[in-house]
Amino acid sequence: MKYKSLVAIDDYSKDDYLEIMDLAAYFEKNPVQKLLDGKVAATLFFEPSTRTRLSFESAVNRLGGKVLGFSDSSQTSVSKGETLKDTILMVGCYVDLIIMRHPLEGAARYASEISKVPIINAGDGANQHPSQCLLDLYSITKTQGTLENLKITMVGDLKYGRTVHSLIMALSHFNPTFSFIAPEELRLPEEYRTFLQQRNIPFEEHTELAPNINDCDILYMTRVQRERFADPLEYEKVKNVYILKNSMLDHTKPNMKILHPLPRVNEISTDVDDNPKAYYFEQAQNGVYTRQAIICKVLQLK
Ligand code: CP
Repeated sequence: MKYKSLVAIDDYSKDDYLEIMDLAAYFEKNPVQKLLDGKVAATLFFEPSTRTRLSFESAVNRLGGKVLGFSDSSQTSVSKGETLKDTILMVGCYVDLIIMRHPLEGAARYASEISKVPIINAGDGANQHPSQCLLDLYSITKTQGTLENLKITMVGDLKYGRTVHSLIMALSHFNPTFSFIAPEELRLPEEYRTFLQQRNIPFEEHTELAPNINDCDILYMTRVQRERFADPLEYEKVKNVYILKNSMLDHTKPNMKILHPLPRVNEISTDVDDNPKAYYFEQAQNGVYTRQAIICKVLQLK
């Protein structure tokens, strides 16, 4: 594998995913390693973030590297009209690696094509979120003991949800069965349904939450993302469409775990947080180990 840039999850193979899982497990047991001694990473966040930016920065620090960057592009020369191309070329003069979140689909691919240093896509619009996907795979492996032959139920914003799109592509290597629960307005896009049909991967689609969660191994909840709607009235129509409550979990499988990329708004009631099936905070913690692994692979350090 050519470990240079991580733009889309399907740039990587099944073996690559498994290798990153193994490395993440290694970093979970041995979090502080000085593999990035003397190296600098940039975090360029053109969109808000808590988990992705801070867990990447934690990962770089634990590996002994230094971080610079911004979380608000209005405080940079972007506000004077500097282009993405020039920003990437300039920052590439200062660092060994760029971790970038951008609202435009395809921005990370474009950056990777012009950059002198590797790019890690930390989310590009509604397109892809590959590092989240890899930490999701790691979380599924830890909770289920395998990635193979699982039933995965995905709920919420399946149209704009970039974590959903990346995870469907990655799990397609592991003989999954999918169930998609979304209102018509936020249904999984046709390109992903075609992707699954072409690979003979079974999936079902529902609009109701409670009757359709009892047979899954992973319940992957997502937020309805206000920032992706051009029309605020369309957001108002669907914003409260699903709210998972503790009482709905009584008849779910004993091994079932609830994942959510976070942030949540109200789609998981806080009474679920203490249920042993809730795994979303541990999932976020797994992001540090997985991102340590991704950084090392991209920089060919391990
Ligand atoms: N999961 C995720 O991408 O969270 P942030 O938007 O806080 O980075």
